Amino acid sequence: MGGRCGLYAANLIIAENEAPKPHDGAPVWPVTPADHHPLSSSKSDALSGRIRVPGDKSISHRALIFGALALGHTDIEGLLESSDVIATADAVRALGAKIEPLGEGRWKVTGCGVGGLVAPDGAIDFGNSGTGTRLMMGVIAGHDIEVRMEGDHSLSKRPMGRVLTPLQQMGLEVIEPDQATLPITVRGTADPLPITYTLPVASAQVKSAILLAALMGQGRTTVIEPVPTRDHTERLLQAFGANIKISDLNDGQGGRQIEMTGPHELDGQSITVPGDPSSAAFLIAAAILVPNSEITIEGVLINPARVGLFETLKEMGADITLHNQREAGGEPVADICARSSKLSGVTVPAERAPSMIDEYPILAVLAAFASGTTTMLGLGELKVKESDRLSATADGLKANGVRVAVGEDSLTVHGMDTVPGGGLVATHLDHRLAMAFLVMGLASERAVTVDDITMINTSFPEFRGLLTEVGGKLGETGVAGS
Ligand code: S3P
Repeated sequence: MGGRCGLYAANLIIAENEAPKPHDGAPVWPVTPADHHPLSSSKSDALSGRIRVPGDKSISHRALIFGALALGHTDIEGLLESSDVIATADAVRALGAKIEPLGEGRWKVTGCGVGGLVAPDGAIDFGNSGTGTRLMMGVIAGHDIEVRMEGDHSLSKRPMGRVLTPLQQMGLEVIEPDQATLPITVRGTADPLPITYTLPVASAQVKSAILLAALMGQGRTTVIEPVPTRDHTERLLQAFGANIKISDLNDGQGGRQIEMTGPHELDGQSITVPGDPSSAAFLIAAAILVPNSEITIEGVLINPARVGLFETLKEMGADITLHNQREAGGEPVADICARSSKLSGVTVPAERAPSMIDEYPILAVLAAFASGTTTMLGLGELKVKESDRLSATADGLKANGVRVAVGEDSLTVHGMDTVPGGGLVATHLDHRLAMAFLVMGLASERAVTVDDITMINTSFPEFRGLLTEVGGKLGETGVAGS
């Protein structure tokens, strides 16, 4: 197959913070490093607007990758032009695909055919992106090429063993034995072996890496996911014409089995990327928390594997309604209207975690304003995201006077009538922490400052502009909006 682009054809509570300290003096903050860009947010008047958020990050990575593996052209509308996705565009370009930005989220990919990518000239830098890295490991596993993979400080700490283990069974070689974090050099094979693999962690990235490698392999690969995870890879594989079969495990947990028989050529497609629900979550939260607000976000992805936050917010009493439900690019989308609401604390069950895994920082912020206690269970995976989000979220809440309890894989937030704010939040190169705590400052008594907003560019470069457009007060100093 391939060869079109070159040579190689083929719940224990650990700690509860002390009673909040009074926030009546100017906080004494540590000096932030010169390359950090702090930002503050402060109490805002009613927010309103009808807006769109940029394209879904998960689908954007995959659209580029599948376009690069297909024959012919793939036209993409609404691609998220954030640094994580651009790193994936650069990666597939370095491997021989032609990637052309046409303006305003429109991109054209000219693929190399399944198995047709070529060795890059130098190392590939994946920046901050775990998704780009892990999916591309699957792609590399199915090509006879050696690739040095690098990333930033945050990405270099994230576990790659979960992807390397199944990919090594398929024939991927790790050049430095025992290396399971970036930087890493891996060598794939033109004949990856088909495997049957049961996911030990609920991870769409692991599932996708195996399926991507299996595209190039001879025979049937089976991935069993006892807990369902986002299914964008399967939807796109079907759209691009792969030989894929999905069946329910009928285990009462929603588990699934995905079988794919390779090698199988893919045909270029036209893809429209819906708005990212994980980005929309911050604007929805802002509308809920700031009194008398109403915001509508048009064209948001409402894939059932991504809407755990909306389900939880409904249970908490949030006024969120879906309008104009329709299909775009093989995915369900809707316009989401969120209005100010008084929330009540709930227990969020562990089995919901995969469908809202990126939304816990913003849910924790919302829970701080709820009446009663919110307990979130099954959060083990949060420790290996762009930061240890479990402890970093708890620390951010504590810094703003909110009482929390952190368990081995759980977080309990004690809601308050008025949230003091006034804290400086350490974001640890994590975009979602930065955005979640900037939303907190819109409704807390005193301004909230995050130590660095640079990483927001990895997923939602328009965040600051959109939040300002709907009326959020953001400012460079500790006195936001001044
Ligand atoms: C993603 C899957 C999730 C999610 C990440 C994007 C994807 O990670 O946290 O932001 O696009 O497949 P895991 O697969 O590790 O759960």
